[in-house]
Amino acid sequence: METEKKQIALSLIQPSGTITLGNYLGAIRNWVKMQDEFDCVFALADLHTITVRQEPPKMRKNILDAYASILACGIDVEKTLFFIQSHVPTHAELAWILNCYTQFGELSRMTQFKDKSVKHSDNINAGLFTYPSLMAADILLYQADYVPVGADQMQHLELTRDIANRFNGLYPNVFKVPKAYIPKTGARVMSLQDPSKKMSKSDENANGCVHLLDPPEVIMKKFKRAVTDSGSCVRYEEGKDGINNLIDIYGAVTGLSREQIERDFDGKGYGDFKTAVGEAVVEALRPIKAEYERLIADKAYLEGCYKKADEIALRISTRTLNKAKKKIGFI
Ligand code: TRP
Repeated sequence: METEKKQIALSLIQPSGTITLGNYLGAIRNWVKMQDEFDCVFALADLHTITVRQEPPKMRKNILDAYASILACGIDVEKTLFFIQSHVPTHAELAWILNCYTQFGELSRMTQFKDKSVKHSDNINAGLFTYPSLMAADILLYQADYVPVGADQMQHLELTRDIANRFNGLYPNVFKVPKAYIPKTGARVMSLQDPSKKMSKSDENANGCVHLLDPPEVIMKKFKRAVTDSGSCVRYEEGKDGINNLIDIYGAVTGLSREQIERDFDGKGYGDFKTAVGEAVVEALRPIKAEYERLIADKAYLEGCYKKADEIALRISTRTLNKAKKKIGFI
């Protein structure tokens, strides 16, 4: 990835559970599409996941499952760097340094910190507070031009830009200041049980969230039970969050526009539409699931992939880390 002069796009995802349909349609599918246009750097943000307490056996399984699932979605290790954050020690080291250039007040204003402090009030640890400095380190180590992130991470990306500008002001030309990458076709998938909230693996109601590896009958059941309003025609309208979400999911997996979907389902009810969305999602996920099964059975192959990527990531990131340390005054 060092010979071609493409711009660098970088993003990480937390392996804090199984990959969801929301992760796939909202993020990973765009990563797959970006691989030709950019030099891509992707990774599993496993260091970020321990800001919330994890069970060791589950955590091990989640990390490997996420790695295999994302490869199965179409990340190509021949053109893209796809590594595991905790295997590359420069991330934690630069995060410490950046902590010293990040203000308490800035971190206090992060809405994710405030939300998570309410949700995990028994464990408001320092890592939860300094989470954005680690995220800034992830990004700045690779001199990324673009960072594809969802709306919920925009504030963290803005802070990353502020930290980079502040650092460069003190010690010129260390970090590239990254920009947000807003994909042309990004679906924001909402919970099937509470369509005012983003689809999330931590949804209290398990039926709200579809996982990439759910069996077909489970996926069908979740779509059939999806919460919709009291209306009946399949039409995208302000305020009808449930049906709008289903229309967007259907559009994302079939490639059809909202107008086309409305035309196709003219005169049909919500029940027929929910079945159609479920079936379309099952079909879209079928090849991914099959590829996941093939990959997860070959642990040696997976290990080979991430070890190779971890090494390259270490080499690239060490250059930036050393530059930063030298400018600061370390000997
Ligand atoms: N905080 C991001 C999330 O939860 C994950 C993440 C960690 C990330 N480091 C990153 C995303 C760097 C983009 C760039 O979604």
